[in-house]
Amino acid sequence: MRWIGQTNVLSIRPYHQGDREGLFKIAADTAFFGQPIEIYMEDRRIFLDAFYAYYTDFEPEHSWVATANDEVVGFLAGCVDTLKKDQIVNKKINPTVLFRLIRGYYRVGPKARQYLKRMWRSNRQHLFPAVDLEIYPAHLHINVDEKWRGFGIGVRLMKVYLDQLTYLRVPGVHLGTSSENIAACQLYEKLGFQLIEEKPSIMWEGIVDHPVINRAYGMLLPSNKET
Ligand SMILES: CC(C)(COP(=O)(O)OP(=O)(O)OC[C@H]1O[C@@H](n2cnc3c(N)ncnc32)[C@H](O)[C@@H]1OP(=O)(O)O)[C@@H](O)C(=O)NCCC(=O)NCCS
Repeated sequence: MRWIGQTNVLSIRPYHQGDREGLFKIAADTAFFGQPIEIYMEDRRIFLDAFYAYYTDFEPEHSWVATANDEVVGFLAGCVDTLKKDQIVNKKINPTVLFRLIRGYYRVGPKARQYLKRMWRSNRQHLFPAVDLEIYPAHLHINVDEKWRGFGIGVRLMKVYLDQLTYLRVPGVHLGTSSENIAACQLYEKLGFQLIEEKPSIMWEGIVDHPVINRAYGMLLPSNKET
């Protein structure tokens, strides 16, 4: 799929391994509600290894990139079976991250320590909305480089992935976001995603000076609606 945005030729195509660095850069540059991760973590490699290496290294066939003149400017990282992903993360990704942590490969400063504490408290207090994975087994992450937002990349990445899931007869897809991701929530609602659940977030205490709400959205796909 190709179109013109500004004076550049934009295109959407399947992810391939040569895109890994570009995808990782955008993932880290947008990890704080569209801004760089360094506001809450000193070393972006922890975040990328823990949260993104799964998609690029274990399930690359369900990710997509947007390019402008052959440079990656946006991506959608997809997963068709979240339970299976969780097993692989527990077996392969987490041990690697832990090993690197112990060996001193990452720079762990006070920001990362606070972040991990808030994550631990959030999990213990069940503050991330629950999603029924029988109904919504697939999920996704989407991010567009700040300079390239508003050109129709996000909506095209979403549509191509939803078509792929429909082709694969996946019954439903979900995603996690927050009340701070205003453009993203608009995009999901415009495409027909429904809010599944919301919960107050403690992840941004000390960083954002107003309440933030965690949100889970879901969409049933045609194969589900047929049954
Ligand atoms: C959310 C995001 C992926 C959208 O990508 P995009 O390429 O800018 O979006 P598009 O140009 O395709 O716009 C599609 C729709 O998104 C919504 N949208 C986009 N920008 C918006 C803005 N600034 N304010 C409100 N809604 C907006 C609109 O519904 C828009 O449809 P419309 O043009 O018919 O009004 C992008 O803004 C982004 O990466 N944001 C920061 C990171 C992020 O929040 N990622 C999601 C994490 S859950």
